[in-house]
This record gives sequence, structure tokens and C-alpha cells, in this order.
Amino acid sequence: METNEDIKTTPRGFYCRLCSVHTPNQVSLEAHVKGKRHQHLCRLRTKRSAQVESSIFVSGFKPATSRTELSEYFEQFGPVSEIIVDKDKGKYAIIEFSEAKSTQAVLAQLEHRMQGLKLRVKPREKKEFRLASKTSAADAQKNPISLEKLNYDLCQTASVNEQMQKVVESFQLSESDRNGRELLVELMEEVFTEFLPDCQIIPFGSSVNTFGVQSCDLDLVLDLEHTKAFQSQAMKSEQTGENQSEDGQSEDSILSELDLATATPAELLDLVTAILRKCVPGVHRVQSLRTVRLPVVKFSHRDLKLQGDITINNRLAVRNTRFLQLCSGLDSRVRPLVYTLRFWAKQKHLAGNPFGGGPLLNNYALTLLVIFYLQNVNPPILPTVEQLKDMACEEEECVIDGWDCTFPSQPLGVPPSKNTEDLCTLLHGFFTFYSKFDFPGSVVSLREGRALPITDFLCKDEEKPDPPEGSDSKQKQAAGPKLGPVNILDPFNLHHNVAGNLSERTHRHLHRECCEAEKYCRSLQYQRKSAKGKSWGLVRLFAPRVEGGTRSQDGTERSLQISIPFRASVLPESLRKKLSSSGNAFRVIWFGKLCTAIEALFKDVLKCSPAEKPGSTLEQTQAGGGEEEVNNNDSLEGSSQQGATHPGGKRRLPAEEGSSSTSSQGKRRRLDPSAGRPEKACWFWAQRHMVWAGRRKVRRDLLKTSDEASAPEGGCSSIESRVTQCIIEKVADPKDLVEFRVDAEVLGGGESTKAVLKFTPTNDLAGYFQDFFHFLESFLPKMVETLLAKLE
Ligand code: UTP
Repeated sequence: METNEDIKTTPRGFYCRLCSVHTPNQVSLEAHVKGKRHQHLCRLRTKRSAQVESSIFVSGFKPATSRTELSEYFEQFGPVSEIIVDKDKGKYAIIEFSEAKSTQAVLAQLEHRMQGLKLRVKPREKKEFRLASKTSAADAQKNPISLEKLNYDLCQTASVNEQMQKVVESFQLSESDRNGRELLVELMEEVFTEFLPDCQIIPFGSSVNTFGVQSCDLDLVLDLEHTKAFQSQAMKSEQTGENQSEDGQSEDSILSELDLATATPAELLDLVTAILRKCVPGVHRVQSLRTVRLPVVKFSHRDLKLQGDITINNRLAVRNTRFLQLCSGLDSRVRPLVYTLRFWAKQKHLAGNPFGGGPLLNNYALTLLVIFYLQNVNPPILPTVEQLKDMACEEEECVIDGWDCTFPSQPLGVPPSKNTEDLCTLLHGFFTFYSKFDFPGSVVSLREGRALPITDFLCKDEEKPDPPEGSDSKQKQAAGPKLGPVNILDPFNLHHNVAGNLSERTHRHLHRECCEAEKYCRSLQYQRKSAKGKSWGLVRLFAPRVEGGTRSQDGTERSLQISIPFRASVLPESLRKKLSSSGNAFRVIWFGKLCTAIEALFKDVLKCSPAEKPGSTLEQTQAGGGEEEVNNNDSLEGSSQQGATHPGGKRRLPAEEGSSSTSSQGKRRRLDPSAGRPEKACWFWAQRHMVWAGRRKVRRDLLKTSDEASAPEGGCSSIESRVTQCIIEKVADPKDLVEFRVDAEVLGGGESTKAVLKFTPTNDLAGYFQDFFHFLESFLPKMVETLLAKLE
């Protein structure tokens, strides 16, 4: 039995179809029906219904017909308030009039003609009030475009340029998807406004930056600036006894309980969480995350089948979204490039952290890389942020949290680029540019449109320029970007490295994929459509990355390398100071310290023993047969004497130490005259135990029985040494499992600062080395940084 259209009786009580809510009995049903949420949705339904009454559906016009032309024609029947055009195909439009009587006037006319064509005009379809067109969003979820279908479509095109346009068409948000999102934002704003007068819900990110794909997240900002003003005004009035509570500010209103000017982020998050959970229809799985850089409330929406985020007062994100929109509007090549590169990066597992955080690039960072590249082509396709600032007029000036975010609001204010390169060439150019880019040694600055040397960012926090006036306390604390293997400065918040989360592994992977893509783009398979129906162009570029493969796309064996980027932030302050004052010599000083740490890692932490250099005798090596090598006794944790008596543990002497290499204390003994070349080092080690196997469990057990605070893997040298020791003690009769050579080199010209370690198994009959190397890939960079941080 149904009490009215919205309410249905169920075995468990009642169900309100409008709000998707169950109530157990009549009393709670009545309370629900009188409640804010139900009332609000009823009002919204009435509003929507009025909109439908005053709209018509039109088709039959020429595909290129503009909104203005449609508007001009229909204005003769009454004022037009909105026109929605089916942009993808340009086949139909919905014309919304300000008054319902205009639709009657249109429908009363027997024939409509535009540009010689007869139009089909009918009343707008009445749909059951729902938050969004359920089918379209659900269909997108059910039928996300398959790689097979995409590949097929791409192969049908005539050129890479067309393929890139096809990628946009295949992935972009559909009109109905966008409308659904808009409606949800509108609804949320209405709900939130009831509790927080004058607040705004503003979408940002891919839903609105023109780079969105079907089912992408809906990122929202709750802007409370006006609400704060409202509240402080209300408080003043209360004190003076004026305007007492005529509006919604009853005693039990949220605003009467929470002072927005002093509320903590946690209190605000709780409030948002409660409103989302209790008052927004269709929203579920609401969860607040306070641990992330920007506290956020996550939610899902049932009907739209999408996930969303709400952050509070994040006005910089709204502004940088406008910046991406502007870049996209400045040149028609930006969108196809960004879509193509986003999909490529996804296929190669370079971008798209599954749960927000993680060691991969986020899409924002990737988009900034594309923009930076387009600032650096010749002639540039996009201007630098500084240039854009100069093109803006006074009204467009904008400062947020002290950062200058000024740029023209419309593409019209920016002169078009003189660059005429096609998409195919530009895509190839992107890979060439980044395959050669010195990420660890540079900081990508879109503001200046050039790579800044990392040495500019090495000075201690106190020496860094103060953050701009008006910065919040967090920014003041941060006082500079977090440096890492990849450094991309946000175009506005110049203290934020948008790639600060990237791991060294991801950096290496990015470099490798750019090199492979660059190589592929030089081939005819990329440039020309196959006459024999084989895959060509983007199809091969999009081939998914095979996990764990050690072979590259062209089938060659990948070398066993680990690179360690220069990261000032992990070094002790005294060393940072020394490096920042030593000009170009900082590379070799750093490399020297790094070698010390590497040696300590193998010798003390992983307890490798020095091995003989294959084909040489102990005497030869000690006497200098170990070409270009010196003993290094400058290691940590008392390992120093070992290197002098064993053939292993050798390394070249760094330049800064070279002059004192014949030290009378015998601390270092020069074995080779070429020790003045400080960029290389070499060791031979043997490992007698499977120190990589079951390590986590051993660490857990060890920490359980000790009072020590836990540290992440590679975060504490004494814990790791004891873990190794425990593993070693379990084996009664150890034999050499693997012997290997490590060649280290500091690379990059100018400010380039990364060390590459090349591993070569010299004795690996039982085939253990791959496993050991796999472990080293993640363990070594972290452990070395921990050891470096301890160096004096
Ligand atoms: P995303 O990386 O999620 O980009 O950042 P996106 O374009 O929305 O892509 P997907 O489809 O959801 O993955 C979302 C927005 O968050 C802000 C930017 O406004 C960006 O558009 N953001 C992100 C920052 O301001 N800084 C960051 O470091 C990351």
C-alpha cells in the first residue's frame, strides 16, 4: 500500500522513494516527511518540474548551429534562460524559457525553420525526479571503453593526429555526465546552505578543468568565506540585540554552536561529514581523512556512481583549475595532448594513484608537465605564468593565501601561438624532452617556464625567502618545496612540489618509459598507418605495461640499475650547508658521502662480505690491479678497518677528499693514481644468506620483543642490522649464495645530481641474484638516505 507517491510500505516499515530512506514506523515516517531533507527535495522537485514545463526539445538544425543562433530564433517567443546543446553531435538542444507560457507559444506554431531547415520541436520529456540521469552514468560504469574497442577505433583513423582527437572523443565526460555532476553540486549547495548560510560548493579538478574522463572523481571545495562574514555579522547583531533570529538562525542551528573563525579543521570536517551523511540524498560511504596534506571528506554517490571529495576553503585548487581551463582554451592542441598522455601514463602505471596518495604521479602533476613542455617548444605554444600575469587586467588580479594567482580570465586576452607543429610531432617531442630532462637536478617552474637548478633550493629553511604576506601558518612552516627525485613546482603555491610524493622507483620508471616511447616515436610504425592492417600509431604506445618484466619494448634486457637522486632534504644540516657553499663541487662531495653510506649498507646493514674481483688475485687488487680504486675506510658503524684488509669494499675517492687521500693517519690509502677522477666507484661483494627473504616478519617479531619504536623498512640502520643478524643466525652452515659487482657513478651535467648503481652478478649459479636485486631496488634508496642523514 502506498500512502502517497513517494512513500511505500515495506515489510520493515516505510520507504521514502524521494530520499531513498527507510523508516521503521509511522512516527519516524512523519518526522522524516516534516524534516529538512524531505522538504528540501520536495522544493527542488517543484523547481525542476517548473523548469521542464518551460523547456522544449529541438532537433533538425545544422550541426554547426551556435547557441546564439538558437537563442536569437527562440527569443521571439519569450526570454530564453538557458540552452543546452548536445555538444558531441550537435543534433539537438533543450531551450529553457524564463516563463512556461513561452513554450506554449512555441508549440502552438505549426512550423519552425532555421537556415532553410525544418526544425522538430516537442515538449521536454518529463522524467521522474532523480538526482541525475541514472542510466547514463551507470552505462558509463558498466561499459567503460575497452582497450580492444579503443584500439580498433584508433586503427580506423588516417593519422596520429586523428587518433589523438579520437582519444579525446572516447574518454571525455559526456554532456549528461556533466549535467548530473552539476545537479549534484547544486543540490549539495542547497543542503549545505541551510546549515551554513552563504556557503558555496565549488567544483574543481577534472570534472571542470576540461580534461575529465568518464567516471572521474568529483572534487569539491566548501567555501566558507561568506559564511564567516555572515556569522560575525550575526554575532554582532546578537550582541546589540538587533534582528533576532528571524531567518534560519534558530538556537539549534549549527552556526550557533560553532564559531567558524576559530573552528579547527577537524571540527569543520566533522560538520561536513555529518551533513553529507544525514542530509544529502544518494550520498553514502562518507569518510573523513585528516592524515593527508589537505584534510578531506570522501563520499560516493549511488545514482551517479561516482566518488567525490570535499575539502574546505581550498581556494588555490579552484584557481589552479581555472588556470588549466585557460591553458586548454589557449590552444586546441592542449586537450588531445593531455588526454593522450594521461591515458599513456595510466597504461604504463605511471599515474593515477588508486586511493589518492601513493608513489605515482597524480593527474594534476602530469598535466603540469605537459604545460611546461608546451612552454618550452619553439616557438612556445603556451606562455609562462609570469607572462600570463602581465597580460591580465586590473580586475583579474588575484592573490590567494598570499600567492599571486593573476592571469587573464579568458583565452581572448592572450595572443595565439605562432607554433604550427602537429599533434603527432608534439607528442614525440614530449617524450624526447622528458627522456633527456634532468629531473633530480632541476625544479620544473611553470611560473618562469624553465627548469631551475636544484641548487637554488638547497639553502636551509631559515635562508629561504619568507612566504608571501598573508600565507597561512602551514605554508610558513613548510618554507620551501619538499625536494625529491622529481620536482614540479605548483604554478601558484611556490612552496609545493606537486610531485613530492614520487618515489625514486617511479622516477626511474618515468624516465624509462619516456625513453622507450621516444624510441618508438622515431619508427615508421608510429608515424604511418599500416597498409597491412597491423597496429600502428598510438595503439602500440598504449600497450599496457607488463608487471615485473625486465625486458624493454624492443626486447633487449634491461640493465640492473638503481639510481639515487640527490635530495638535500634528507642530509644533515651541516652537510647541506657545506654543499650549498661549494658550487659545482657539491656533486662529488655528495657522491663521496653517498659511497660511504652505500658501503655501510652492504657491509654493516646487510652484512655482505668483500669478494674477490673475478680474475684477479688478492695481491693484485691491493696493489692497484683494481684499476682506479682506493680503499675506503670512511664508513659508518665501525666498519672502517675491514676495507683495508679485504679486496672488497673498494671505491674511488671523491674529489674533495682526493687531496688528503694519502692521509698520514692511514685513514685512506690511495691505491691508484687516477683517484682524482671522483665520479666513479666500484665494489665486489658476496652475500652468504638470504637476507631479503622473510625480512618483514623477522622485523615484526624483533620489534615485538624490544622496546624500540617501530620504523619503516630502511628507516633505522640498527634495526635493519639486527634483522639481518637474526636471519644469518638461523643458518648453521652458510655458503656464498651470490657474488656481485657494484659500479657507482654520479651522473648529469651541470647541476645534474643522481648516482646510478649498476649491479652485475659475478657468481650466481643458483640464480638468487634477481630476488636479491628486486629487494635492493626498494630497500637500498631508503636505507642509503637513512644512513646519509646520520653522516657528520
Ligand atoms: P588530480 O590529480 O586528481 O587531477 O587533482 P584531476 O585532473 O582531477 O584528475 P583525476 O581524473 O581526478 O585523477 C585534482 C585537483 O586537485 C588540485 C588541482 O586543482 C587538481 O586539478 N591539486 C592536486 C592541487 O592543487 N595540488 C596538487 O598537488 C594536486
